Amino acid sequence: METKIFLPEEIDAAAKLLLAGELVAFPTETVYGLGALATNEKAVKNVYAAKGRPSDNPLIVTVADETMMSKYARAVPKRAKKLLKKFWPGPLTILLEVKPGSLPEAVTGGLKTVAFRCPDNKLTHALITKLGYPIVGPSANTSTKPSPTTAQHVFHDLNGKIAGIIDGGPTKVGLESTIIDLSVATPIVLRPGAITPEELGAVLQEKVLINSGKVSEKDVPKAPGMKYRHYAPSAPVIIVDNLADFKAITYDNQTAVMALNPVLAEIDLPQANKFNLGDNLSDADHNLFAGLRYFDDQPKIKQIYVQGFNGSPATMAYMNRLEKAAAGYHYRGWSSLSGKIKN
Ligand code: TXA
Ligand code: MG
Repeated sequence: METKIFLPEEIDAAAKLLLAGELVAFPTETVYGLGALATNEKAVKNVYAAKGRPSDNPLIVTVADETMMSKYARAVPKRAKKLLKKFWPGPLTILLEVKPGSLPEAVTGGLKTVAFRCPDNKLTHALITKLGYPIVGPSANTSTKPSPTTAQHVFHDLNGKIAGIIDGGPTKVGLESTIIDLSVATPIVLRPGAITPEELGAVLQEKVLINSGKVSEKDVPKAPGMKYRHYAPSAPVIIVDNLADFKAITYDNQTAVMALNPVLAEIDLPQANKFNLGDNLSDADHNLFAGLRYFDDQPKIKQIYVQGFNGSPATMAYMNRLEKAAAGYHYRGWSSLSGKIKN
């Protein structure tokens, strides 16, 4: 079965498929999600199969609003209300205790918590409202590959495996939502995203912890982050932290570079081996996954050098994804992600 691409005005047809237990990918402001009715166990299991995702990696539940969420959460604590008021709809996912029996175990991977997200996308909001039920929404890529930021990326990975894709154009943000766990005593950010821990702390008026994602020392000898390689093209990705290093690298026609405009201009490689991340960090967030996918489709490329950014909280989400794609490998040596700095 060829996967059908739906135009924005065709969401009624997409809704019908979802109600019938089929899988339909949908746009959000971050990346495309793979939708299935969250209350339909069989459909949810098919999501894992289509992505090739391990069954112990739980799914986000995508809701239209707080009212819909409250049917599936054991309670909606004050902290959650504060954050929703400020950031929903938007790129923030919150973890709450699940209301027992309200969702199939396949959604939560058997955990006591469930991740809720309310995307800032009119089409998807209309779709979920029409359904009257939440949809699960993992990123609509093959497991371990970069998340999809266009309908074409989804088609590339999942054509023939899902019934449809709603094409809402390229996504705005480009990196997945911030995830904050509110089911524990002190809120903790499990995945950095466009909304920073500082912003969350300011609204909550309390300390917010950050999960470092560090690998313990004893894991280091195991191949550079096998466990952590993710968002990854087939060719190795190497992070380059400054212009001097970009200039020191030896390039050939099997080498690719992804960097901001001014950096690319200094590099002596044919256009075809370069991918322009744009003019600033927010462009780079937007373009990172598209660039990784661009070179993944070119078997002749054997190494991909990608510009790193360090320092400000705003760079956290970008570096988190890039460190995973590179399994912690920088031109100057392993990063703190793998527990060793050789710099
Ligand atoms: O921006 C996003 O969040 C996108 C769009 C499509 O909404 N979705 C997304 O889903 O990134 P996914 O499945 O690719 O990433 C969700 C992450 C996974 O790492 C999963 O392990 C974690 O959230 N997660 C989901 N439920 C969880 C739970 N109950 N406890 C801990 N982690 C959870
Ligand atoms: Mg994902």
